[in-house]
Amino acid sequence: MTLSSTPVLSPDVLHANGATIPKLGLGTWQSTHDEGVRAVRAALDAGYRHIDTAARYENEQAVGQALAHCGVPRDDVFVTTKVWHTELRAADFRRAAEASVARLGLDHVDLLLVHWPNPEVPLAETIGALCDAQRSGLTRHIGVSNFPVALLDQAAALSSVPLVANQCEYHPYLDQRKVLAACARLGMALISHSPLGSGKLLADPVIGEIARLHERQPAQIILRWLMQQPGVAAIPKSSNPVRIAGNAAIADFTLDGGEMAKISALARPDGRVSKPAWHPEWDTADLSPDYTTQ
Ligand code: A2P
Repeated sequence: MTLSSTPVLSPDVLHANGATIPKLGLGTWQSTHDEGVRAVRAALDAGYRHIDTAARYENEQAVGQALAHCGVPRDDVFVTTKVWHTELRAADFRRAAEASVARLGLDHVDLLLVHWPNPEVPLAETIGALCDAQRSGLTRHIGVSNFPVALLDQAAALSSVPLVANQCEYHPYLDQRKVLAACARLGMALISHSPLGSGKLLADPVIGEIARLHERQPAQIILRWLMQQPGVAAIPKSSNPVRIAGNAAIADFTLDGGEMAKISALARPDGRVSKPAWHPEWDTADLSPDYTTQ
C-alpha cells in the first residue's frame, strides 16, 4: 500500500452557522516545540488550511511560529484554539483566551472552543465569556468541545452568538449519532478529534480490506469515511510529514454506500479512547444499523 503518486488534496469546506470550516485539519496534541513547528509547516506545505491547537497542548507558540514563516496568507488558514476547563470563570476565560492568541502571535483566531465542560462553573458564565471573546475580536467564531447533547443544547440556548462547532471524539469505533443529530439540528459542525482512534483503528481488518481494494492506506479510508459525512470535519494528528501529506491525499476516491455502512458497523461499546477523569456523562450509544449511507 503506497501513497497515491499524484496526491489530490481535499479542498472541501463545510458551512456551519456562518463559519466556513475546511473539513480536514491538522491535530497537534503532543506535537510540541520543534516537532510542532515542523508538523504544522508540513501540513501547510501539503495544502492543509485548518490547524487545531489548544492552550493545554503547550504548542501554541510552535503553531504560531509555523504560521508566521509558511508563506500562506493568514486569512487562508482556519486556526482553532481552546480554553482549558480550569479557566472557565469569566475573568479567567478572558485572560486565557488573550494569552492563547498572544502565544500564537495572531490578533485573532478563527475558532475559540471551551475545551471541556466544567460542572463547577455555571455554564451561563462560561458561555457569556465565550461570547465576549468573540465580540471583542479575539476570535471570529465560537464553539465547544466534548459536550454531550444536553449540555450542547444548554450552551446553544445560552449563547447570544451562534456556536459553530462541537469538537468531539468521533471515529468508526464510536457511535456518535446522537451528537451528530444534535449538531445538525443546531446548525453546528461536528469536528472529529482522535479520528483514527488515536491510531487504534489502523489495524482493523475491515478497514484493512477496504484499504487493499482501493490501494490506499487505512488512515486514508477512515478519513474518507469522515469526509463523506455532511457537517463533519476531522483533525487527524500526525507529526510525520509523509503521513501528514498522505492523510490529506483523499479527494480522488470515494467509498460507496456499502463500504460506508461496513465501516459504520464497526462501532462498539468500548470504542471510546479519550477518557479523562473530568469527562462529562456521555450520551449512550445504541448500536443499531448504519447511519452514514444517505
Ligand atoms: P504520528 O504522529 O507518528 O504520525 P488520532 O488523530 O486519531 O489521535 O491519531 C493520531 C495517531 O495516529 C498518532 O499516534 C499518529 O502518529 C498516528 N497516525 C496519524 N496518521 C497516521 C497514518 N497515516 N498512518 C499511521 N499512523 C498515523
